[in-house]
Amino acid sequence: MLYSEKVMDHFANPRNVGELEDANAIGEVGNVKCGDIMKMYLKIEGGVITDVRFKTFGCGAAIATSSMATELIKGKTIDEALTLTNQAVVEALDGLPPVKVHCSVLAEQAVKSAIADYYTRQGIDPTPIVGEIGGCDSCSCH
Ligand code: FES
Repeated sequence: MLYSEKVMDHFANPRNVGELEDANAIGEVGNVKCGDIMKMYLKIEGGVITDVRFKTFGCGAAIATSSMATELIKGKTIDEALTLTNQAVVEALDGLPPVKVHCSVLAEQAVKSAIADYYTRQGIDPTPIVGEIGGCDSCSCH
């Protein structure tokens, strides 16, 4: 089987799907190559991500990785969420086929993009904290 049971589970029953009315951090990233788009909504209180939702217009792997990413960052501090790598998301899903690893990069970038928005809203330049966010094009996985 091409996809692990966990990937199929998160694709068929994605966690934390939708929008957050009271989000105070919203990120959106896209992959220009495949046209997939991922939007991430966070509610951050006292430096902790207390709630999270996502909407992904994309492939099955993009949906599964964004679902897993929301599970991994919920209840974590901003600093912990910023250390989330696409490899950690892939490992939590028991792996992805090599041609689909780039989809997990979109999930990592969506989290970073939302956190960048959180800082921008407070008048803080997010780049030194979050780094450059360029969607899948800026990664070296393909
Ligand atoms: Fe576009 Fe997976 S093919 S994110």
